[in-house]
Amino acid sequence: MKIIVVGTGFVGLCHAAVCSEYGHEVYAYDIDKVRIAAYASGKSEEIERMINEPGLATVIAENLNRYLFFTTEITPILEGSDAIFLCLPTPPNPDGSSDLSFYFNAVDYLAQLLAKRVDQRRVVIINKSTVPIGTARALEQALAKHNVPNVGVASNPEFLPEGDAVEKSRRPDRVVVGADTEEDFRILRRIYSQFVNHVRISFIETTPETAESIKYIANTLLLTYVSFWNGIGARIGETFPNVRMEDLKRGVTADNRISKWGSYVGIGAGGSCFGKDVQSLIYQLESRDQDAQLLRSVYDINEYQKMYLLDRAEAEAGFSFANKTVALLGLSFKQRTNDMRDSSALKVVEGLLGRGVSAIHAYDPMSMHEARRWFDPSKNPLFAKLSYHESVKSALASTDVLVIATDWEEFRGLSRTIELNTKKPYLIVDGRRMIPDYAELVAQGYQYLAVGSPLRG
Ligand SMILES: NC(=O)c1ccc[n+]([C@@H]2O[C@H](COP(=O)([O-])OP(=O)(O)OC[C@H]3O[C@@H](n4cnc5c(N)ncnc54)[C@H](O)[C@@H]3O)[C@@H](O)[C@H]2O)c1
Repeated sequence: MKIIVVGTGFVGLCHAAVCSEYGHEVYAYDIDKVRIAAYASGKSEEIERMINEPGLATVIAENLNRYLFFTTEITPILEGSDAIFLCLPTPPNPDGSSDLSFYFNAVDYLAQLLAKRVDQRRVVIINKSTVPIGTARALEQALAKHNVPNVGVASNPEFLPEGDAVEKSRRPDRVVVGADTEEDFRILRRIYSQFVNHVRISFIETTPETAESIKYIANTLLLTYVSFWNGIGARIGETFPNVRMEDLKRGVTADNRISKWGSYVGIGAGGSCFGKDVQSLIYQLESRDQDAQLLRSVYDINEYQKMYLLDRAEAEAGFSFANKTVALLGLSFKQRTNDMRDSSALKVVEGLLGRGVSAIHAYDPMSMHEARRWFDPSKNPLFAKLSYHESVKSALASTDVLVIATDWEEFRGLSRTIELNTKKPYLIVDGRRMIPDYAELVAQGYQYLAVGSPLRG
């Protein structure tokens, strides 16, 4: 199949790369020339500076200019295409609704070009972006407005988790395709032929509206589960004495009906999807006079988690952040990615600067390049208080307090490193419960404050 992928961010790049592995001829198109040049170089350092996802640079290098092509010019590649995947950003508007301006800008441009195609074979335009329920229908209308001949629309939402995207694209739990005609389903089956009739992977054919709804229900349900643990589990552990969080989690999830995934308490879930998709679904329901109270609570709990440990440090440990030097471990929204979108660390930095800290020593195994972009002192002079360190040790040196914001394996069980590189009195604020042997530190006079437990020491 000749496939075009429009938008080569996280989703588009992974999708294009993995589709090319299956022998499709894939053209990945973006308006961002810097991105395309980096990908087209085939060099892992350049690709990873844009998107650092385990295994992705290798897949790109292996298929580059054989099955996978990058371009900033879409006109020459449109002829003969079977499918066009739209992997465009759909960020939130201030009112929570999805900003579809990137999406419709691209669609209008594409429709004008498709209307002029010489080869008028069937082409399906497929939404991979997470878009409000009913957007495939709006896409159909936008194409009709330009009289695009022989075109179908489909919804094929993306479920891959960052940090494990390549593996999950090769072996997804399910592939959901929503279309209106058998002709379009046939094209979708050919694109995903390796997953149709698979013994383990569900290949689900449905309506575009159902496919769009599946994505929203799935993402908001995952965040609901995470927020349940944070809003109820963490509060129980922090309020009642002698509750062991890890035992609580094991005891509850020993029941097969209860998910092990998400059964942790932490500093809030970030990333480009959860927060924005919940906000969008709230908007979609409330703007149609439906109640979305449950989702409002889910969202609020998650946002509260991102900041409340700093309040607890002040209230419970009597700690004042003013003029203190902070070690901040973890900047990405979760381990195994350099993506900092909606990361809890962004909120932590905002909270620390607002409390008048004198310096923040930051370290993250993958996101240092990305962090310099997010915390650009030309945008906010206070960001000059951040310095970037090459190791945990170096970030800890000469600090008064440590905040752990990301669950990188490298940060697990850091007690000895903390002991060797800091001076007491010292407070450890653990947003990910990464230091199971904290008791040894407490015995030596450190204070330890973790999500899900009362202050120790
Ligand atoms: N990131 C994830 O984990 C994830 C997972 C599932 C679904 N999604 C959804 O997928 C969509 C894309 O997400 P992302 O994280 O890849 O976004 P992104 O912001 O990383 O990438 C979007 C890309 O689209 C490009 N673009 C913008 N306008 C364009 C245009 N007119 N023509 C061509 N390219 C254009 C941008 O330059 C950018 O490279 C969103 O709707 C998101 O909700 C994301």
